[in-house]
Amino acid sequence: MKLKGVILAGGTGSRLYPLTKVTNKHLLPVGKRPMIFWPIEKLVNSGIKEILVVTGTEHMGDVVSLLGSGKDFGCNFTYKVQDEPKGIANALSLAENFAGGSNLVVILGDNIFEDSLEPYVHRFLNQGEGARIILKKVKNPERFGVAIFNGDKITKIVEKPEIPPSQYAVTGVYFYDNGVFDIIRTLKPSERGEYEISDVNNEYIKRNKLYADFFEGWWTDAGTFSSLKRAQELVDEF
Ligand code: G1P
Repeated sequence: MKLKGVILAGGTGSRLYPLTKVTNKHLLPVGKRPMIFWPIEKLVNSGIKEILVVTGTEHMGDVVSLLGSGKDFGCNFTYKVQDEPKGIANALSLAENFAGGSNLVVILGDNIFEDSLEPYVHRFLNQGEGARIILKKVKNPERFGVAIFNGDKITKIVEKPEIPPSQYAVTGVYFYDNGVFDIIRTLKPSERGEYEISDVNNEYIKRNKLYADFFEGWWTDAGTFSSLKRAQELVDEF
């Protein structure tokens, strides 16, 4: 089964304003590299060489100038524009032609983590169909999609709950079979006006086809000032 990669690097970066007034969040530095290099390197190092980068209209030029064709990374980039910041599931819908029937590994461009993706990729390839997510125990789950468990089984994912039902955040690393595009077509926007990736994952739960792993090493996003600071500390490159 062929697996392709998708890096979602859209959004307005409003939580990092004014750092994001004239540039894209994913181009900001984390350690000695632009933020987006980190998830790209994770994909390439796990053997994924066909990678789609989705970003908004405003900074696509800078993203392409930075990343180029992919030859410097040992991969091949394809680019797609998300016209409006309508959420992660909407950005992912743009990957349908690129996927061309292949399964996908999707990473949010502000997710920085320690583990190699290789073992998770292997487990997804062995699973054959459905979806797979990676969870991480965090101190502030209310900022994330959070898993509800019944024993070992995930029964639901709630997006940014005021009272978190567990400490397990859904990280921005997702594995999907090709059925994901039909699911996205059935979604309605959430209260914040976005097509939510948690709604996609909940549909896989309903179909009994969502599997989960846990990151062993550290993980953070870098989309707020405090998490960006934490990412700098964790990568510890200076
Ligand atoms: C998004 C997802 C959320 C997930 C998080 C991981 O949140 O909606 O479910 O836990 O990424 O980084 P956002 O960063 O868009 O607030």
